This record gives sequence, C-alpha cells and structure tokens, in this order.
Amino acid sequence: MHESTAAPEWADELTETRCSSCGAAPTAMSLPKPVPSTSASPSLLVVDDELPVLKVVERLAAKAGFEVETCASGTEALRMLMRKPSDLAMVDLRMPDVNGLDLLRQIRANVPGCEVILMTAYAAVDSAVEAIKLGAREYLTKPFDFDRLRDVLVDIRLELERRAQVVALESQVAKQLEFCGMLGRSPVMQELFSLIQRLAPHAKVVLVSGETGTGKELAARAFHQAGPRRSKPFVTINCSAVVDTLFESELFGHVRGAFTGAVESKAGVFEAAQGGTLFLDEVGELPLSVQAKLLRALEYGEVQRVGSLQPKKVDVTVIAATNRDLRSEVAAGRFRGDLFYRLNVVEVTLPPLRDRREDIPYLTAAFMRGCAQRMHKPMTGLTPPAERLLFQAKWEGNIRELKNVIERACMLSDGTLVSERELAGAFGPETQAAAPLRVRTSDNGARAPEAPAPLDEIEREHILDVLRQVNGNRMAAAKVLGISRRALYRRLERHNLGDEAPRPAAARRLS
Ligand SMILES: Nc1ncnc2c1ncn2[C@@H]1O[C@H](COP(=O)(O)OP(=O)(O)OP(=O)(O)O)[C@@H](O)[C@H]1O
Ligand SMILES: [Mg+2]
Repeated sequence: MHESTAAPEWADELTETRCSSCGAAPTAMSLPKPVPSTSASPSLLVVDDELPVLKVVERLAAKAGFEVETCASGTEALRMLMRKPSDLAMVDLRMPDVNGLDLLRQIRANVPGCEVILMTAYAAVDSAVEAIKLGAREYLTKPFDFDRLRDVLVDIRLELERRAQVVALESQVAKQLEFCGMLGRSPVMQELFSLIQRLAPHAKVVLVSGETGTGKELAARAFHQAGPRRSKPFVTINCSAVVDTLFESELFGHVRGAFTGAVESKAGVFEAAQGGTLFLDEVGELPLSVQAKLLRALEYGEVQRVGSLQPKKVDVTVIAATNRDLRSEVAAGRFRGDLFYRLNVVEVTLPPLRDRREDIPYLTAAFMRGCAQRMHKPMTGLTPPAERLLFQAKWEGNIRELKNVIERACMLSDGTLVSERELAGAFGPETQAAAPLRVRTSDNGARAPEAPAPLDEIEREHILDVLRQVNGNRMAAAKVLGISRRALYRRLERHNLGDEAPRPAAARRLS
C-alpha cells in the first residue's frame, strides 16, 4: 500500500537519493529530536539486496535517531547480528540468498532482543499475517510511504529509549511501591495498602480472602508489621496441615497427661502469640467441633488447655485467611455462621493477578532483580515478545506462579534479557499463555480459519483485547503492544475505537 503519493516537505534534504522502487524523491525531515540519553542511539541493521533502498532507509533512519548499518545479504546479516546484536532490523522479504520470513525466524530464535520490520514490494496478506505471527514488529510495503516509514522509525526509537529507561526505573519504582514487603502499583493494590495501614492499629480480628497465591499471608504479615504489635510474635498455624484430633491441642495447648502421648504440658499457638498476632491460615479447613471453641476464644479472649479447667487470658490479634468462599461454606453447613460473622468484622480481599495486570511489570522487575542477585547473573529485563507473553498468561496461580516462572526463566537464561523462548520454557504445566492472535470469527461466531483476517482487522481486535486485559489502561496497553502511547492513540483513532475501547474503571473499593 502506498498511502501517500505527494512527497512530504521533510524529504527535501534527500533529493540525491531516489527510491528505486517508487522513484519518489524523499526530502527534508523535521523529526522529533532523540530523547537525550546517556547511552548510545539505538542501532538498526537494514537488510536489502537493492542498494538504493539501503541508501534511502539508511539516511531516513539516521535522521530518526538510529545508528545505522546496512547489509545486502540475508546470510551475512544474520552473521552480523550474531556478532553484534542490533536493537532493530529492517529486512526485505525477497532476497536472492534468503527468504525474509526465514531470516525473521532466525533472528527471533537467535537474537531475541532485536525487533524486526519486514519490507516488501510484493504485499500479500498471507506473508503479512505470517510475519506478525512470527513476531515482526511492522510490515511495510514498497514503494515506501515516507511519512509512515518515518513515524514507524521514530516510534520504535522512542520506544527503545523508553524501554531502556523503564528497565532501570522499574526496579527503583518497584521499591517505592512497596508496602511491608507487598508490591503493587495498581489502584486496587494501592487502596488495599492504605486500608491495611488504616486498620492495622485497631483491628483485633481480620479475615483475609483471595485465590491461591494472591498474597494472603503477605497481607497478614503486613497487618502485623503496620500495627502496634510489630515487635511481638507473629505465629502461624496452617489449619489444612493439622490432624483432626490434634486441633484443639495445637490451638489451645494441653496439660501433661491430658491424652495418650501428652507427656509434657504444652502451650498452644494462642498462648505462643501472646501480645502479638496469630495467623490462622486456611481457616475454612477447621473442623466444626473446633470452630465452636475458636469462637469462644475470640469472644472472651481466653483459652483453656486440653485437660485443664483453668481458662487463661490471651491478648492476640487474630488474622484468618481463606481461599474458599466462606459464605457458601456457611450456606452448605460446613462453616459456622456465628464464627464467620465474628471473623469478618474486617474483610480484606486480595484481587487475582489477572484483574491487576498493570502490576505484572513491577512484580517481574522485582523478582528478576532478586534472582539476578541470588544467581549472580546479569539479567536486566525481558524482550518485548516475552513481556507480551507475561501479560497474556492467565496466572491462575497468581503471584506465586509469576514468581516461580521468573525464577525458572532466570535459571534458563544466559543473556541480559529473558527471551520469549526461555520464558515459554519456564512456564510450568499450570501456566497457560493466552493465544497471541485471535482467529477471525464470522458473524455467527464460527471460526473461519481458511479466510485469514486482514491485517488491519487483526490489529484492531488485538488492540481491543489488550485494552480489555489491562482494564483500559493506555500506558499498560502500549507497553504490552510494544508501541509508544502516542502510537497507540494514533491507532485507536485510525481504527475508530474512540467509543469502543475500554477505559480505566474507577478504583474498586474494598470493604
Ligand atoms: N504483592 C506482592 N508483592 C510481592 N510478592 C508477593 C505479593 N503477593 C504475593 N507475593 C509472593 O507470592 C507468593 C505467594 O504469596 P502468599 O503465600 O502470601 O499467597 P497466599 O494467598 O497465602 O497463597 P495460598 O492461598 O496458596 O496460601 C509469596 O512468595 C509471596 O512473597
Ligand atoms: Mg497462604
């Protein structure tokens, strides 16, 4: 597609070089100045067997802020990239020695940090779709639309510079957005931190709910640390790991001879936590008979060791956690209603990671920093396709799963950036990455794989998909899509998505 035929006014300076394909005379440019950076300009390798194309792109890209090298052969290009990886490669689709798609595959596999733009004089939907699926950043048709070429290059240059700064900043920001060991920059997490901070000095009984791996134990510890009992004990009991017959003794203790094997008197966790906090993990697993006794301890602030008639006063803050829906457990008769209401005076719900995807980069940066230090490796971040993969995964195991995936990826990685392949290898069987591109559906919703969707339509759908996943957050969506925010706005406009695109919802309130 040659979207504009008139030579733009910025093309004046380039009159000595005419594009061999379109014959247009590219002229002067007024490009946004490269962001001042302490590091060198991003690097670009242009690969095309036509010398005039190399010259035009070289001059345009240099003006757009790239340090440019050119190469007329695909095989040589790969050799050059393996020797010295560049940030971006512009690759011709048809070259005598190598097919551009094959070269794209090789680059993706061997030079993971290098973005690729495919160029072709033979535009075809098939190769465009294939190129994007293989991870190409853009697909440009010759003769070039110089305005578009300039925009694409400037966008990528800004994005590369921003990314280099973001990688450095993310670790720093992650530190600043920490509350008692919990990280979170999403509004819902910020609100949760503020809630814990406000409640911690007063709450005596708290119920923390949320799916597995969302950080319930961390939240309980945060309550303890933010409250007046921080210097006193924090004692944990996991109710799913206690044998039924020993529950009472574990919670309240026993006296010598209370039952067979009780050779010594022993304090329970309530007494052990005296003055501090008792964390009852997986409280939904508590047998009904023990629930009544727990209720008594909470109401009267006293416990009775098994085998003793003497009640003891205890002063503890009790934080109970559950990943079960206790309301339905009550309805099903498996959990006492009176205990539930006693526990949920203050209820804090940890949101699943899929509902706060904007936290993923910050959590990732922090986990990666920790791994790099522990493993003595030079990792600083992820390649853009790997970042996208992280964003699209379902994260049913929430933050614990993300932490494990990053840890495994760091073990597998030898470079500074974790690649898509290393990340995919690190996904356990529990992690399902979402399909990066959607198959086109017909009006009645049926799949129509034999009729590939036009690139524009795929792009439009993909943008909508990503915006939905990040709750309409433009900045986060641009990051997932690997483009600048400015470029995202331009695409929203081009696809007429002004009304249809999801917008950030007001911060959700926690009770
Ligand atoms: N907000 C957070 N910031 C940083 N790390 C977190 C955060 N939330 C959870 N984690 C980490 O994720 C892992 C799981 O957290 P935690 O054990 O608190 O989850 P949980 O909800 O209690 O899980 P489960 O229901 O399986 O017991 C831990 O390694 C924890 O350090
Ligand atoms: Mg837990």
